[in-house]
Parts: sequence; structure tokens; C-alpha cells
Amino acid sequence: MDHFLYQNGQLHAEDVALSTIAEAVGTPFYCYSAATLTRHFQLFQEALSPLPHLICFAVKSNSNIAVLKLLANLGAGMDVVSMGEYMRAKAAGVKGEHIVFSGVGKTREEMRHALEGGIRQFNVESEPELEALSQVASALGVKAPIMMRVNPDVDAGTHEKISTGRKGDKFGVPISRAREIYARAATMPGLQIVGVDMHIGSQLTDLAPFEAAYTKMAELVGVLRADGHKIDRLDLGGGLGIPYTRSNEAPPLPTDYGAMVKRVLGHLGCEIEIEPGRLISGNAGVLVTEVIYRKTGEDREFLIVDAAMNDLIRPAMYGAYHDIDALIEPAAGAPMQPVDVVGPICESGDTFAKQRALPALQAGDRVAFRSAGAYGAVMSSEYNTRPMVPEVMVSGDHFAVIRPRPSYEEMIARDRLPEWL
Ligand code: LLP
Repeated sequence: MDHFLYQNGQLHAEDVALSTIAEAVGTPFYCYSAATLTRHFQLFQEALSPLPHLICFAVKSNSNIAVLKLLANLGAGMDVVSMGEYMRAKAAGVKGEHIVFSGVGKTREEMRHALEGGIRQFNVESEPELEALSQVASALGVKAPIMMRVNPDVDAGTHEKISTGRKGDKFGVPISRAREIYARAATMPGLQIVGVDMHIGSQLTDLAPFEAAYTKMAELVGVLRADGHKIDRLDLGGGLGIPYTRSNEAPPLPTDYGAMVKRVLGHLGCEIEIEPGRLISGNAGVLVTEVIYRKTGEDREFLIVDAAMNDLIRPAMYGAYHDIDALIEPAAGAPMQPVDVVGPICESGDTFAKQRALPALQAGDRVAFRSAGAYGAVMSSEYNTRPMVPEVMVSGDHFAVIRPRPSYEEMIARDRLPEWL
């Protein structure tokens, strides 16, 4: 459920008409609903209760510090994968002990920064990383709390580019070698083992791969405890999928996921961490864009909109489907026409939708790409020297710009001419 609904013939974010924001901010812009973010977070809180748990929001899905602060105020921790994300979490007021650090390529500088600023744990993905972290921590005179990210060799059954838990994927250490690697980690002076971590992929629409992975995790916990390791915490990763279209069957809900987690892992007495991104932020955001031209091609109609692949790359990159809604509600029974919805960038890949049935939209009409709150703004770029799209947050009947659109002058002023030119 989200809070982007038609009221009085206009698509609203909560109680604010998106066209009101468009008048104030210009298009394109991202708009997030505070009530939707809150609701999604609370669904996970309820789903995991009464297990002791911490929901660490995957900052990579939406890293605006207003979003992070809203979630932190509700009790969220953060899952970060870079120094920049760590600094964003801190800027949003998140305490170090609520931040987990994931990622296959943490640098020593990032490790040092997180150890100095405070960290809940590092999710370590290789033996060289273990060694580096132990050295960095020892040099600072501290012990770094760690979990190994274990690759369970489970196929998440999701898009190739976002599947991470098969043995050929670059993530984690093979589960077959976990015992040996934990034994090694236990001998390293700068480390303190606190648990086990897994993350098998993103946009999973079936619980079976999660259950297969967590079953292996439960067995591993038994083995590691028998080896004398103290395993008090389990990080289950993120990955629960969202409905991208109203016409499809809905993926499992956080309650279903939570019930499975309790069944498979509840008896271990561990604190549970999860790292959801998309389920919290995805359907809490839309990208609003305006039609620049309607163009009649040889065999089809095109809607050329002012958003492009640099603003929302998911369709170009993953062939992702996003529902498209006109800001003005089409009259009941209004005829729908198939159109290609494309951006202004000089690549054919700059296509949001092919032959999508939409009402008869014209230049100046506006539409919202749904489910754009996760992996939308964060994956944007300035390709074609297009300014980064502003972000707006709505709460009830008011809205705030939480990242303004940069000016062209600001963009160009970042470049430097060498003196010899
Ligand atoms: N934890 C780790 C270690 C991850 O790598 C990810 C996502 C998450 C948590 C959050 O997963 P989520 O709950 O959001 O599914 N750009 C792609 C998605 C990439 C996901 C990468 N890792 C997309 O637009 O679909």
C-alpha cells in the first residue's frame, strides 16, 4: 500500500497534488511520501516482533538524508556500502552502533573512518579483507566487530544483474569454507566475531530461496557454535521484492517473510538484522515528468518526456517495468492508446516503456513513474549535462524540497581548465 492516490481527479502524494509540486519545483522531480516510508518500515517491525531485531535500511536504495532521518527517528539502523553512505547516515543523526558496513571492496580508509566514528559491525566478504580490517583495527587499538558474509549458493530466481548468492557471484565467502575462515578470523587480534551474514539478491518475489539460504545459515550457526565461536547476531540481508505493477500477483508481504524467519531461525536465540531497501523506499516514491512532445512515427506514437535514462535508469539497465499514471485522472472509460514513452537522450535505450496503453496525453501533460523511490535518484547521473533531478518529501498536506535542482552554473563550475589550455 502507498499514499499516491487520485483525489478530486488529481494524483496526490498524501494530501498534496503532485501538480502543485510540479508548479513549484518544475519537472522532472522525485517525490517521496513520508507516510509510506513509515508504514513500510513499521510492517517489518511488526513482522519481526517479538524477536530481538534491528532493521538496517539499505542506504543504497535511497540515500537522501531526509529519508534516512525519517527512518532513523522510527528506530532504523542503516546498511552502508561506502564511506559516502556512512557519512550520510551520520549526517542524518544515526549512531555508529546502528550502522552496518557491507560491500566487497571496503578500503582501509573506509574501515578506519568507520572504526573511529563507531560501527555496529562489518560484514566481511573475503580473507584479504579480514586481514586488512584486523590490521587497521589493531593499529587503532580496537577490535572490529565482524560477521562473514557467507555465500550459500542459492539461486534467488531474480534478475541476473541483482542476484548475489550463487557460487559464481562475486559476493561473500563460500559456505563450504566458512568453518575454516571463521577459525582464521578468531585468531586475528583486531577482530571480534559477532555473527553470520547473508544477502542473496534483490527483488525476490518468492520466499523459497530465502528459506533455503536461512536453513543453511541455521545449520552453519550450529557448526560454528560447536567450534567455540560466539554467534549472537544474524544479518539476513535485504531483497524482499515489491509489486511494480498493479496487474501482477503481489510478492510475499513482510509478515510472511517474518513468519518464515521465526520458523527457520527463531530457535537460535540470535538478534536478527535485516537490510531491506526497496521494500521500504520503492513504492514510497514517484518520478514526475512532463510531456515535451507527442510525435507520430512510422508505425507508432511517441511521448517524449522531460525525464530520461540518466534520471531513472532501471528500464534501460534491467528492462524494468514502472507503472505510469497521468497526474490528471483519466475519465472512466477514456480510450487508451499504445505509446512508446521515451526521454530526450540521444540513445534508443532511453526508453521508459514500449507500447504502453495510456490515455491521450499531449505536450504539457504530466505523468508519474511509480515505484521509483528505490534505485531511482541514487542511480541518476548528469549524462547529457542534465541536472540531477530534485527530490521532494511530502508529509500530510505539506511538502519540502529535500534536494534542490542544481543550476547549470553549479554543474559547469565543478570542471577545471588546466593552465596550459
Ligand atoms: N544488503 C545488501 C548487501 C545489498 O547488496 C542490497 C542490495 C540490499 C541489502 C538491499 O536490497 P533490497 O532490499 O533493496 O532488494 N539497482 C538494482 C538493485 C540493486 C540491489 C543491490 N543490493 C535495481 O534497481 O533493481
